[in-house]
Amino acid sequence: MTDTAHQFQADLAALAFLVDAGLDIAIGSEPTDRLKPPPEPERTPRATAAPSEPQPRPQMPPTRQVIRQESDEVVSERQAAITAQQLAAQCSDLTALRQALEGFQGLAIRETATQLVFADGNPDADVMLIGEAPGRDEDRIGRPFVGESGKLLDRMLAAIGLDRQSVYITNTVLWRPPGNRKPTPSEVTAMLPFLVRHIELVAPKLLLLTGGSALGALFDFEARITRERGRWRDYPAQAGPIPALPMFHPAYLLRQPALKRQAWADLLSFRQKLDELGIATRKG
Ligand code: URA
Repeated sequence: MTDTAHQFQADLAALAFLVDAGLDIAIGSEPTDRLKPPPEPERTPRATAAPSEPQPRPQMPPTRQVIRQESDEVVSERQAAITAQQLAAQCSDLTALRQALEGFQGLAIRETATQLVFADGNPDADVMLIGEAPGRDEDRIGRPFVGESGKLLDRMLAAIGLDRQSVYITNTVLWRPPGNRKPTPSEVTAMLPFLVRHIELVAPKLLLLTGGSALGALFDFEARITRERGRWRDYPAQAGPIPALPMFHPAYLLRQPALKRQAWADLLSFRQKLDELGIATRKG
């Protein structure tokens, strides 16, 4: 085999590995070798620099440059959160909220996503479920929780007498992050004003938070879902507190089936609260 053919095969194998690892989209036209060590900053030998000559400005070390780039991104996401706040405040119904989101340019992930994935289920339901972010299937179809984790979610809801007619479903972040990665805290923060308005407009009696992103967005980014699941909290909505239950995300349960036992305990706790509040469900 020629060297070129060898190289081609190696490139193809590397690409196959990246696809297996979740890469599904190219976000730049030129490849960036992120494994290459950063170039050494140029040093001016002290002995040759004449004392009276102006000294070259010290170069920012490459690691600092990376940190600055990241924080610029965070700064622009904070700016996006301010825009989101202004847009969301003007929305008096779900149609307006959806339109405001369609026009919101504050997040880079919308460029790699196919479409906005707004919500599913019944907007008049007493139960509102908040997930993390759309995955590949949701991005393609335009509805939350339609893939494998959605199928498990439907089974979990059915187990306590709920379905998509008795629940309203949305996500913390409404565009698919590339490669199905977890949304970053700054992306979640940028979307938060929309989520808060979404909850106000739906005005549910109970919130079910599946996964750490929803818990982090509405309560505390430091909170760990593994510790906080199953513990009821009050979400401080404008119209009054709404009981909210954090629980494991169905996608996590697919990867860790042994945790379904704890998820079942949380579902029973949710069912009990439905009964206490007299919320009608499919079975009850
Ligand atoms: N995971 C989520 O959190 N939301 C979806 O819509 C799909 C998968």
